Amino acid sequence: MNKVIFETAQLAVEKIAQEFVEYSKQDRPVHISLSGGSTPKLLFKTLAQSPFNTAVKWENLHFWWGDDRIVPPSDPESNYGEVQKLLFDHIQIPEENIHRIRGEANVEDELVRFTKELDLVPNHQFDWIILGMGGDGHTASLFPHQTDFNDPNLAVIAKHPETGQIRISKTAKLIEQAKRVTYLVTGASKANILQEIATKDAKDLPYPAAKIQSKNGITEWYLDRDAAELITE
Ligand code: 6PG
Repeated sequence: MNKVIFETAQLAVEKIAQEFVEYSKQDRPVHISLSGGSTPKLLFKTLAQSPFNTAVKWENLHFWWGDDRIVPPSDPESNYGEVQKLLFDHIQIPEENIHRIRGEANVEDELVRFTKELDLVPNHQFDWIILGMGGDGHTASLFPHQTDFNDPNLAVIAKHPETGQIRISKTAKLIEQAKRVTYLVTGASKANILQEIATKDAKDLPYPAAKIQSKNGITEWYLDRDAAELITE
């Protein structure tokens, strides 16, 4: 496991924020995919504050999501809605740089529309895909025992196995094309599954977060000390 262990979650997100500054210095559109759930909220809040809110050349960054829930942006469950509230409302970023999944739309229609929008990413190869990991080893909305790792499409409609919540997610194939995949995982609740992923072969695990890696780029884990507490090697 290619990991970086940070003393705190705040230090982990500050490292990511600093890398946003670096990426934004490139004079070309840089396509970054954000994770959802609660972990990255600290990142969005940090990016909205000094120095990052003015150090990042936002006009060069294009934001996408690994997945989103099929709910309106105003719904607290909306991954896009959270970023709008915590970050986009506090910075100057062109509207056309925000490539949200339209959770308010009909899900089949949105899958077609969103898949088409992904053609804006050259060769469908993201510069950076930041992912989270659920306690069950899911990532984006790719869940254990219900993910087709060979699905050739770019995006897929998924159903949360416990809540039944409908989502649209990037497919494993799309994620694996990225130049860089970073799993941002923090908190003691993830320590057990991380220890398993760090010590067992991914082919012996049902966890999409263990199996999905960049095929031609780098895959890394940004962990805080709490999440990494059981990892010895
Ligand atoms: C989602 C996320 C999902 C998330 C994990 C971890 O839409 O739910 O994309 O993959 O990253 O469930 O969520 P927490 O950060 O809340 O633990």
